[in-house]
Amino acid sequence: MLITFEGIDGAGKSTQINKLVSYLNSKNREVLTLREPGGTEVAEKIRTILLESRHEISPIGELLLFSASRVELVQQVIRPALAVGKTVILDRFFDSTTAYQGYGRGIDLSLLQSIIDISTCGTVPDITFYLDIEPEEALHRKFEHELLDRMERSGLEFYQHVRRGYLEMISRNKERFVCIDALLPEVTIQGQIIAFLEERFPA
Ligand code: TYD
Repeated sequence: MLITFEGIDGAGKSTQINKLVSYLNSKNREVLTLREPGGTEVAEKIRTILLESRHEISPIGELLLFSASRVELVQQVIRPALAVGKTVILDRFFDSTTAYQGYGRGIDLSLLQSIIDISTCGTVPDITFYLDIEPEEALHRKFEHELLDRMERSGLEFYQHVRRGYLEMISRNKERFVCIDALLPEVTIQGQIIAFLEERFPA
């Protein structure tokens, strides 16, 4: 089973992923946790190129780098793990590309879709948890705690487009996405995620 988490930077995905992994481990489920971009030696190198703030990268270059990182992770790690029945939890997947490079950077969505099809080898999550937060609030959370990476320097308007992208994707794909208010208390969000998983996948 492939579970993905999505949301703009600062939505709190990592916290929720850690909590979910602990919960699944307590149920004796073997879980593999990964993040994009990254997860293989080459993909981690691409991650550094993409996120270091000193690099200037064109939108298409950015799209291709995220996609190159993805194809390594999908072929070397994700597909083999799914093939032996593991539960894979992935912090971002191709929905990030649609939201950030498509809606955020303005790359044509049908061009983007063909590159996504190639880079994922047709792999689609069983369920995607989207943590929804206003960009103002999310950036405020980030600013308080850490230096911003290259993507996070893209500005408020960029993030407003990204969020609109996510919300549009969700409205078109209600079967796969679960939209959660990221401002709810952490424990409430965790309860919602677990309740949803138990209802949808009782085994
Ligand atoms: P990361 O530090 O992992 O951010 P977060 O903790 O918010 O997930 O950095 C990943 C950044 O790359 C994040 O700003 C989202 C962006 N991104 C894209 O623009 N396109 C993509 O396809 C992916 C996977 C990530």
